Amino acid sequence: MINQVVPYTDSDKSKKEQVSEMFDDISPRYDLLNRLLSMGIDKGWRKTLIKLLEKEQPETILDIATGTADLAIAESKIKPKSIIGVDISEGMLAMGREKVSKLGLAKLITLETGDSENLKFANNTFDAVTVAFGVRNFEHLKKGLEEMNRVLKPGGSAMILEFSQPQKFPFKQIYFFYFRTVLPLVGKLVSGHSKAYTYLPESVASFPYGKDFAAIMKEANFKDIQWKALTFGICTIYTGKK
Ligand SMILES: C[S@@+](CC[C@H](N)C(=O)[O-])C[C@H]1O[C@@H](n2cnc3c(N)ncnc32)[C@H](O)[C@@H]1O
Repeated sequence: MINQVVPYTDSDKSKKEQVSEMFDDISPRYDLLNRLLSMGIDKGWRKTLIKLLEKEQPETILDIATGTADLAIAESKIKPKSIIGVDISEGMLAMGREKVSKLGLAKLITLETGDSENLKFANNTFDAVTVAFGVRNFEHLKKGLEEMNRVLKPGGSAMILEFSQPQKFPFKQIYFFYFRTVLPLVGKLVSGHSKAYTYLPESVASFPYGKDFAAIMKEANFKDIQWKALTFGICTIYTGKK
């Protein structure tokens, strides 16, 4: 299953190359824009995932598409023995490493270049695998989910946070107005990047959510799949077991 929505419609490069270039370009402003565009709510979404993760008491965690390491850093609060974050964008990882080192977390959190669709880790390595706002950017969604499943220990948990689409009036209307008009404009002004914040609503609009995403997790061999919509359905957290 190839995810067709790409940042640059006029480019011959693969989705993966386009996505890593785009995140390299916006990496210096990524955190600022996250706070600004979500009005700080993104922190609360990650916290909700951490609360679910804490119940599992994982000792080893892999955070895929870790970006600037916000989720990996939040995971340090539940005191695992190790956290590895992987990402295809060196720019995002560089910002993440700076934050991890400033917080004195460099012994706990390792950030490495890595592709979600071809992880270098052995089968059955981690107690938990997490992804926040990453799966939508994968070129091959099912392959990425299968890889998550492969590196999890039997009984281990996958936790995925991703944008979804509010369905109820008036949030649906307000959200779509904001996402399609305000967000691309502010995103372009602050990041200086013309495509990244139009790619965001376009990629969300065509991405499966709720039961449709859960069905793909099932195809990727996850069990006990559950999901919980957050903030009127703007985001959803999916959990599954190996
Ligand atoms: C929207 S950012 C999310 C970053 C971070 N997880 C967060 O919550 O802020 C998406 C990240 O996914 C990464 N990414 C996209 N495709 C990837 C892949 N195939 N393998 C690893 N990382 C990928 C991008 O480079 C980018 O850093």
